[in-house]
Amino acid sequence: MCGIIGIVQGRGEVASFLHQALKRLEYRGYDSVGITTIADNHLHTKKDKGKVDDVHRSMNLDDIPGSIGIGHTRWATHGAPSLMNSHPHFDCKNEIAVIHNGVIDNFLQLRTDLHSRGHKFKSETDTEIIPHLIEEYMKEGMDLATALKEVTKQIGGTYAIVAISTKEPKKIVCTRNGNPLVLGREDGVSYVSSDIPAFLPRTSNMILLLDGEIATLSVDGIEIRKLSDNTLVNRETIKISWTADQAQKSGFPHFMLKEIHEQPDAIRNTLRLKPEVFENAAKIIYNARRVYLLAMGTSGHAAMASRHMFASIAGILPTFELASDFPDTVYGALSKDDCIVAITQSGETTDTITAVKYAQKFGVKVLAITNVVGSSITRLADYTVITQAGPEIGVAATKTFMVQLISLAQIALALGELAGFMDSKEIERKRQSLQEIPEIVSNVISTQEERARRLAGILYDRPSLLFLGRGVSMATAYEGALKLKEIAYNHAEGYSAGESKHGPIALIQSDYPVIFVVPNDRTRNCVIGNIMEMKARGASIISVVEEGDTDVDSLSDHTFTVPAGVEPEFSTMVYVVPLQLFSYYMATRSGYDPDKPRNLAKSVTVL
Ligand code: G6P
Repeated sequence: MCGIIGIVQGRGEVASFLHQALKRLEYRGYDSVGITTIADNHLHTKKDKGKVDDVHRSMNLDDIPGSIGIGHTRWATHGAPSLMNSHPHFDCKNEIAVIHNGVIDNFLQLRTDLHSRGHKFKSETDTEIIPHLIEEYMKEGMDLATALKEVTKQIGGTYAIVAISTKEPKKIVCTRNGNPLVLGREDGVSYVSSDIPAFLPRTSNMILLLDGEIATLSVDGIEIRKLSDNTLVNRETIKISWTADQAQKSGFPHFMLKEIHEQPDAIRNTLRLKPEVFENAAKIIYNARRVYLLAMGTSGHAAMASRHMFASIAGILPTFELASDFPDTVYGALSKDDCIVAITQSGETTDTITAVKYAQKFGVKVLAITNVVGSSITRLADYTVITQAGPEIGVAATKTFMVQLISLAQIALALGELAGFMDSKEIERKRQSLQEIPEIVSNVISTQEERARRLAGILYDRPSLLFLGRGVSMATAYEGALKLKEIAYNHAEGYSAGESKHGPIALIQSDYPVIFVVPNDRTRNCVIGNIMEMKARGASIISVVEEGDTDVDSLSDHTFTVPAGVEPEFSTMVYVVPLQLFSYYMATRSGYDPDKPRNLAKSVTVL
C-alpha cells in the first residue's frame, strides 16, 4: 500500500533513479505517482494520476533537477486517484514536501484546526496535514527533524512518513509507526524506501528503522534517534542476499511469469535452510496446547494446505483462521499455552500483524513464516522462518506461496519426528521426496505452459468458473480461483468438491467451466463422482491429474497433467502450477497486466 522512496547524494541528479525505483515499487500501488526534488533552494515536482509509465510518457520523470529527492506511488485510501490527491503534498509556501504510506485516523480534527489557523489545503488526503503541521513547528524555529518529531505527537493511526524542506536542502527525515520503511547506505549515498527492491540496484546494505524512531539522511550518513528520549540508536547494517537482477524481468514479459518460472529455484533455496530452522519452529508447535494458523489471501491457502501435512505427518490438526477475523472469532479464548503460526510473505499485512498483537496480550507464542528479513512480523514473533523466494514483485503471489508450502512441509516433518506419530523411515522417505519437488515443478512448467496458454484462448471470456478439490486439494482449488479473479477478473470460486453439490451445482449449465484438482490420493474416487455429477449437468470439465490417469482424462474436456507419484500431503506445490499459468494467460489474453491488478496491492497495510 503506497510505495515510498527517498535518496540524498552529493552530486548528480536523482530523478531517473527515483523514477526507476518507483517502477520497482509499483506493486504497492499504482493510482498515482509523484517525485519532488530540491535544487537551487526550490522544490521541483512532477506528479499525476496513473501508472509510472503513463505519467513518465506525459511529463518525463527523468527530467527534474536536484541531487536529493523523494518519490511516491499511491494506493488510494483518502480521496480518489487524481492529480490533486497524488503525493508529495506540500505546506502553504511550497517549501516542505511529504510522502506518506498509511492512514492518519485523526486527520479531520487536525485539518479543521489548521484551516482555522489559515492553512490552505489542496487535496482530500489525510497526508496533507503533515507538511502543514511541520510548517507550523518550523515557523517556531524548529529544524525539520524536530518538527516531524512534534508532528508524531499529534497524529494517530499508522504511517511511514518521509519529508524534505528547502530550509535544509541536504537532508531527508523519516519516521514510522506500523508501516514499513527501510534505510540503505553505500558510497556516500543514503536511501529510504518502503521495501528493499527499490534501492537494490544501488545497494544491498540495509538498515532497519523501527516504530518510534526517526532517521535523518544526508551524504554524511544516517542518524537514527528514538522519538521518546532523542537518544541515538546504533543499528547494524544487514547485507541482503537478494540481487538486483532478481528484481528485473530478465526477458519475461511480466514479473508474474518470471516468478512462476523461478519457483524451482525458490524451493531449492528454501530447502537449503539449516534443519535447525525447521526443528526450532516445530518445537514451538509441539509445546503448544492449541495451534492456530493465521494468514490472509494466498498465504491463507498455504495455511489451509498445511493442515493436512500436520495432521497426516505429525498427528496434529491446527485450526486455520483468517487473521482479519481472528480477534472477533476467538474472543479472548487464548492462553499462554497456545501458539500462532503467522504466515505472511510481506511480513507487513496489517490484518495479520493486528491478530498477532492481539494474541500476544494473552501470552500466546508466535512462530512467523515470512519472505522479508526485518519485516514487522519478524520483530513481533518469538521465532521466524525466513523463506528464500527472493523479491516477488508481481502482486499475485506465486513463488512466495511455494516457499511457504515447502517451509510448512519441513516444519511438519520435524514435528512428525518430535511427535513420533509417523514411522521415522516414512518421515525420511517423505523428506527425500521434498527434494524432488523443484524438478517436478520445473517439469510441470515446461510441459503445461503451452496448454495453459491454449486453454486461456478458449476460456478467457467466460464470466464465471468453478474450481473444485477435496482434502488438501481444496486449498489448491481455492488458490487457483483466487489467482484467476485477482488478475484476469473472471468470476471464479474455489470450493470443496464434496460441498459443491450443496449449492454451486445450481449454477451449472451447458458448457460452464469446472476445474477439478484430482491427485491420485484418497480423495480421487469421490472426486470422480463429483466430476460425473457436474458432467451430467452439461459442465465443461477441466482437470489437473497425474500422468497416466486415463480415467479422469477420458471424463475431461481439457486436461493438465503433472508427474505421477507426488506425496499426497505435498500435492498443492505441484498441482497449483498449471492453475498459476492458466490465470496468467487468461489475464494476458484479455489484455490485462497481471503484475498490476486493479484495486489490489501486494502489501496491504490497512485493516
Ligand atoms: C494481498 C496480496 C496477496 C497476498 C495477501 C496476503 O492481498 O495481493 O497476494 O496473498 O495480501 O499478503 P501476505 O504478505 O500477508 O502474505
